[in-house]
Amino acid sequence: MGRVIPPDPERSPRRAARAEAERLATAAVAVTPPVEPATRRRLRAESGAPSVRAPVGIRALLAVRGGTLTMRRRRAGLLVVALLIMATGAVAIGAAASAGGGEVAAQTATVDTAPAFQGPPAVPAEGLPVPQLAAVPATATPCDDPAVTAALASGDDAAVISAIGGGDAFREAVASGIAPCVSLSDPNREWVVVNKQRPLDPLDYRAGDLVMPQNVRALEESALRSAPASALTELVRAASDAGAGEIGFLSAFRSYSTQQSTYAGRVDVGGVEEADRESARAGYSEHQTGLAVDIVPCDGSCGTLDDIASSPQGAWVRDHAWEYGFITRYAEGRESVSGYLPEAWHQRYIGRELARAYHEGGYTTLEEFFGLPAAPTY
Ligand code: DAL
Ligand code: ZN
Repeated sequence: MGRVIPPDPERSPRRAARAEAERLATAAVAVTPPVEPATRRRLRAESGAPSVRAPVGIRALLAVRGGTLTMRRRRAGLLVVALLIMATGAVAIGAAASAGGGEVAAQTATVDTAPAFQGPPAVPAEGLPVPQLAAVPATATPCDDPAVTAALASGDDAAVISAIGGGDAFREAVASGIAPCVSLSDPNREWVVVNKQRPLDPLDYRAGDLVMPQNVRALEESALRSAPASALTELVRAASDAGAGEIGFLSAFRSYSTQQSTYAGRVDVGGVEEADRESARAGYSEHQTGLAVDIVPCDGSCGTLDDIASSPQGAWVRDHAWEYGFITRYAEGRESVSGYLPEAWHQRYIGRELARAYHEGGYTTLEEFFGLPAAPTY
């Protein structure tokens, strides 16, 4: 029988396990060859990595790595290395995010100048932090604007145009189709478009708020809606003040039945084809809206509709009517679009803002102004 060897009190299982762990830790440190500082700087320069230095405290801890370490110190050293790796990663992530315009620029500072390491930023597992964009509601149409809808509900056409951004913006919005709440078919609106393809709805529509224009010579008892009536009063005064002479008017609002008679009279004289180039059929005339007026030049007595084009009054109206909200609805050479021979006398009120946009835009038909199809025939 061999000699019984008493257990070495220094070699208890627990102590043996600790010794083995220490041996493995020492071996792990030993297989990592030391890198000279100059070599470290060269490798860093070649890799393009940002200059990262550990805080003074961490560098001091790392400095003991090359000396004689107790196991506890080695463990502390390994912990510090792990922390440094995490810090380096955080700085690299910060640098990358900064290059992309992110909001983590503060993390791009080198550790030398940065405050104490706070730990890595919260990042999704798949990569860099994802910027959180604020939800911005898309304004697809002016009809979503409460100011526009309120103005529409109030019936104030000028306020609607103003809320949309003025005459040009209104025209653009309507012509491009992004303002479906604005109807060009609503006969109560100053922007209504009536032509051979766009009858009034209802066909026997009768304008409301009809009044006789003040201080304007009327050759017939024919009214206008209140806005164009006031505008006509201003226009006539301005023309007179400018020395252009007196302007009177013959016909303004015409009811459905009056238009029937007017059109029938033209047919009797020249037949349907000729009548359709000069007179609208009932239900298709702007005169039913109370927004159109036929003007004549007056010099003591008043001339006819045909006299206005070559008169001083007609010349003044061509240049200035837009300033009062009127346009010459049936212009020279535009029969293929408007459907009618030129009528220098037929002034159509569309409001000052739209008339300004129409004039400044060089438009000659309301169809083109609003991007509508031509309407040469019924
Ligand atoms: N003379 C125009 C076209 C009308 O009758 O309304
Ligand atoms: Zn007319």
